[in-house]
Amino acid sequence: MNVAVIGAGRTNNGIGRFIGKFFQKHGANVSAVLGSTDESARKAAEALEHDGRVPRSYTKIDTLTNKEFPDIAVIASPTNTHLPYLKACIDAGLHIFCEKPFIDPATPDILGCLDKIFQDGEHRRLTIAMNSQCPFLQPVYERFCGQILPEAAVDFSIALSPMVDGQDMIPDSVPHALSLIYNLLGNGEIEDLRIEKREGQITILCIYRAHTTDCNFKICLNRHLQQPRPFSFGWNHCMIHRRVTLKPYEISFQYEDTIRKVADPLELSVQNFIASVQKQEQPKIGRTHIVDTTLLLKRIFDHWESSE
Ligand SMILES: NC(=O)c1ccc[n+]([C@@H]2O[C@H](COP(=O)([O-])OP(=O)(O)OC[C@H]3O[C@@H](n4cnc5c(N)ncnc54)[C@H](OP(=O)(O)O)[C@@H]3O)[C@@H](O)[C@H]2O)c1
Repeated sequence: MNVAVIGAGRTNNGIGRFIGKFFQKHGANVSAVLGSTDESARKAAEALEHDGRVPRSYTKIDTLTNKEFPDIAVIASPTNTHLPYLKACIDAGLHIFCEKPFIDPATPDILGCLDKIFQDGEHRRLTIAMNSQCPFLQPVYERFCGQILPEAAVDFSIALSPMVDGQDMIPDSVPHALSLIYNLLGNGEIEDLRIEKREGQITILCIYRAHTTDCNFKICLNRHLQQPRPFSFGWNHCMIHRRVTLKPYEISFQYEDTIRKVADPLELSVQNFIASVQKQEQPKIGRTHIVDTTLLLKRIFDHWESSE
């Protein structure tokens, strides 16, 4: 399986290189990368050298697809570039693993865009997934706090630490919160939405009205520039807290006095995508999850102007 990584470096918070490395670890060949300049693309390619092979580097998607014929595209470039790359990769017949948020919530006719992407993708029998790795943490959570039944989930809180500020925090971080609540409760309506704004901090409060329950939903976003960045979440007031060591990179979670090392959910997300391509099955974060959570994200994003 040949993989092209679009946005394989990091200017702000990009994780294309780590995604590429997980593809390599699980047997795929990262054959090409795309960057915005020759130099940045070459550097990103060098960082993905594997078994003595350096991916070829490009700055134009059409040149890359016409010369390389990859099987898979990873879209890990900034969010405002996702839509044109999604279209180009579907036209070229590539399976797609696209970073969250799938498309910018400010995109006009967002539902029409999503429908077209998935109709064209299904017509060409392509697997299209979003990399939103938090749902892969629900089993970790349940090992600490026990199984959460959807009908018993009356409260869900999450705290994340984006590098950006203001309204930009919403597309940056809210997809993680939505993916977690959607994974357990399915699609829901957002009601009684409030956004409280402070310097470097916003709190989003609402009721998530799902099929089985009305769940109090609270998202706290605190701007934080340094790695590792704090992250906690929990159902019914039982919160687990992430701990990260950087060298070596290891992730643990803490609940009360218990700390457990966990598998990197990014790796689980890549493995799930690879398996879904190989078996021609729906990925965990596929069409319905992407469409429903993108519309929920837009609902919260659009509320920004009308909140104090
Ligand atoms: N799932 C997660 O946990 C997670 C974490 C972090 C970020 N993300 C998502 O990843 C995406 C990227 O994050 P970011 O915005 O912070 O990325 P970034 O670090 O600003 O950029 C990532 C890479 O994209 C390249 N790039 C920029 N413009 C490009 C273009 N037009 N075409 C091709 N490559 C281009 C940059 O390289 P050049 O030097 O070549 O321009 C850079 O290597 C966002 O959608 C973000 O939400 C997800």
